[in-house]
Amino acid sequence: MDTWDRKNILVKKKIIVTGGAGYIGSHTVVELIAAGFTPIIIDNLCNTSVKNIKGVEKITGEEIKWYNRDCTNTEEINKIFSEEKIEGVIHFAAYKSVEESVQNPQKYYDNNIGSLEVILESMRENNVKNIIFSSSCTVYGSPDILPVTENSPFKKAESPYGETKQICEGMLKVDSCNSVSLRYFNPIGSHSSALIGDCSSDKANNLIPIITEVAIGKRKKITVFGDDYNTPDGTCIRDYIHVVDLAKSHVLAMNLLINKEGKHDFNIGTGIGVSVIDAIKAFEKTNNLSINYSIGPRRRGDIEQIYANGNLVKEKLGWEAKETLYQAMKSAWEWEKNK
Ligand SMILES: NC(=O)c1ccc[n+]([C@@H]2O[C@H](COP(=O)([O-])OP(=O)(O)OC[C@H]3O[C@@H](n4cnc5c(N)ncnc54)[C@H](O)[C@@H]3O)[C@@H](O)[C@H]2O)c1
Repeated sequence: MDTWDRKNILVKKKIIVTGGAGYIGSHTVVELIAAGFTPIIIDNLCNTSVKNIKGVEKITGEEIKWYNRDCTNTEEINKIFSEEKIEGVIHFAAYKSVEESVQNPQKYYDNNIGSLEVILESMRENNVKNIIFSSSCTVYGSPDILPVTENSPFKKAESPYGETKQICEGMLKVDSCNSVSLRYFNPIGSHSSALIGDCSSDKANNLIPIITEVAIGKRKKITVFGDDYNTPDGTCIRDYIHVVDLAKSHVLAMNLLINKEGKHDFNIGTGIGVSVIDAIKAFEKTNNLSINYSIGPRRRGDIEQIYANGNLVKEKLGWEAKETLYQAMKSAWEWEKNK
């Protein structure tokens, strides 16, 4: 992927990473650097900390160029795109709290759809062709058939957050860009250094951050929302993907777009369904800790189970998850202790 200029100096391909100071973005920046790209971050720090950029610099030994800008600001984003000669964009910047999106849908439509609109416009203005979009398995709603393939239908989204992902994927389909929508299942864990992770100010409402908060004493216990689902132990089933594996899929997707035009959607999961109780037990076993939990009623909006069919991404990108659930649980705990 390297190119050489006329004086035979190595020119690394520049990639704009919006939301690159966030949880998944910072891990992806590490992997882009390892693969020989030059990432440039745009992040307004609305849901993260500059600590993640410092962490990336420590891990990679590279100084990271970054802009503290809002991706919904057309003028400012256009200016960056016209000044930096870039090869592609990885668009992470968005709000991600399902719960908050139900309370304040407009905030989610404005930022999540608005930022993609601005990015696509700036790409067209500056002749940038390649974009990778952070989508989510929420686009499938509550699926009828498991595991879900990329051809599984989009059912009614369970939240305005899910709706924004469906709409954004639709926008990419009709734009002239080359695109990959990566449909993440449930990202967990952190880089083994524990120098980067989820710095979000959202109240933790995903399972693993809640488990680590119980472990460290920030919460007394975890309430498992329902044990009467039609699953082996009655609790909901998800597909937990280590964030480092997830980050690596972006590098492969960017190389695909650089080498070949097109539009693609890929599921990024392990293909393994893990129940809430399985996840608590895996955390306890890995970290030799006991987690206080009790069973409560079902939570509105939770789907019974979802996990990925990963055949397509394996075939087209040569990507599959490598890290284990135990590695993810260990790194999640290290991050909680370190953050
Ligand atoms: N974490 C998950 O469970 C998950 C699952 C599926 C999809 N996703 C998607 O992946 C992406 C990254 O998620 P994450 O977990 O790293 O979240 P995150 O909140 O840690 O990262 C998002 C980053 O974008 C920045 N940002 C938000 N709006 C911005 C704007 N208008 N301008 C500039 N910066 C802005 C935030 O400051 C933050 O650093 C999001 O699009 C999210 O919807 C996340």
